[in-house]
Amino acid sequence: MPANKKLLVLPGDGIGPEVMREVRRVIDWMDRRRMVTFEMSEDLVGGASLDARGVPIAEETMEKARDADAILFGSVGGPKWDALGFDKRPEISILRLRKELDLFANLRPAIVLDPLVDASTLKPDVIRGLDLMIVRESTGGIYFGTPRGIETLPNGEQRGYDTESYTTGEIERVARVGFELARKRQNRLCSVEKANVMQSGLFWRQTVTALHQREFADVELSHMYADNCAMQLVRNPRQFDVIVTSNIFGDILSDLASMLTGSLGMLPSATLGAVQSSGKRHALYEPIHGSAPDIAGKGIANPMAQILSFAMLLRFSFGMDEDAALIERACTNVLGSGLRTADVMAVGTARVGTSVMGEAIIRELDKLV
Ligand code: IPM
Ligand code: MG
Repeated sequence: MPANKKLLVLPGDGIGPEVMREVRRVIDWMDRRRMVTFEMSEDLVGGASLDARGVPIAEETMEKARDADAILFGSVGGPKWDALGFDKRPEISILRLRKELDLFANLRPAIVLDPLVDASTLKPDVIRGLDLMIVRESTGGIYFGTPRGIETLPNGEQRGYDTESYTTGEIERVARVGFELARKRQNRLCSVEKANVMQSGLFWRQTVTALHQREFADVELSHMYADNCAMQLVRNPRQFDVIVTSNIFGDILSDLASMLTGSLGMLPSATLGAVQSSGKRHALYEPIHGSAPDIAGKGIANPMAQILSFAMLLRFSFGMDEDAALIERACTNVLGSGLRTADVMAVGTARVGTSVMGEAIIRELDKLV
């Protein structure tokens, strides 16, 4: 684990800066308590960077990202930039970070906290105690495959196309992350693809099966088609422990899984690269929710997903498991005390805004230590 903890903070657009402000408070609190001091820097990304610098992410920001021990990312995008060409969209920033830092394993937990059992649109009996982890491949597949484009055919019609492709190495490295996580949890991994219709899906299944036999025979492995997985996630989500899947299926299934928990405003994620020979591992942490332009600037966004992303950062980048657990406990307790942002309101709870929620979490941290 690195001794100097270099943190790059990229708040981005929409509610990103609002929720990041509350993380800052948690970081300051830890600093005051002498738990840890970060070497912090902050920079523009997404639409904010487009407005100021004409690019979704500047080269110097990419350089800072490469140099950082961990990146805390907010969210990017909004209607203001929706009409921009494909190479200029704010979303390019996160895709570039994932690709150029080789952040291939995107960990997306879906956890139902007891106080929020009623916030889900699913019946409490179906989701109580849910704790699943989706490992989404995040540097390959159809997101980056070539050829891709929009072309005009000889008959004057146009054609848009993308390419889904996965190599042995790309599948093995993300599957390994899945198997290793499963070992620390309930020891069950479900690999998801469309081996019934896609060559790349069939190859995915064969590769995961071979790896399982070679290195992870102790882990219980199952395979599932992506469409069935979507259905099973709603029917009986607790059947899953860890799911490993491709970039595009992981994008879709993780949105689905997140809603099982009641609110996108609650869910963090981590995107990890390989451990390098120096021991360093690039890593980026971001909430699953987007920039939420509809509520941006109103001070009502839930800061918990961003704060819990910071907790994941402590755990995965710096091995600070206890501090991460402390922050997670503070969030659960505040929810249990009946304070709620609008997205997780329930009968009998009190509605608060972003900064009151942030304050409540700090107060709870004070109580817990
Ligand atoms: C996500 C988002 C991104 C993706 C967008 C913003 C490019 O939906 O992180 O899930 O599709 O990967
Ligand atoms: Mg998505």
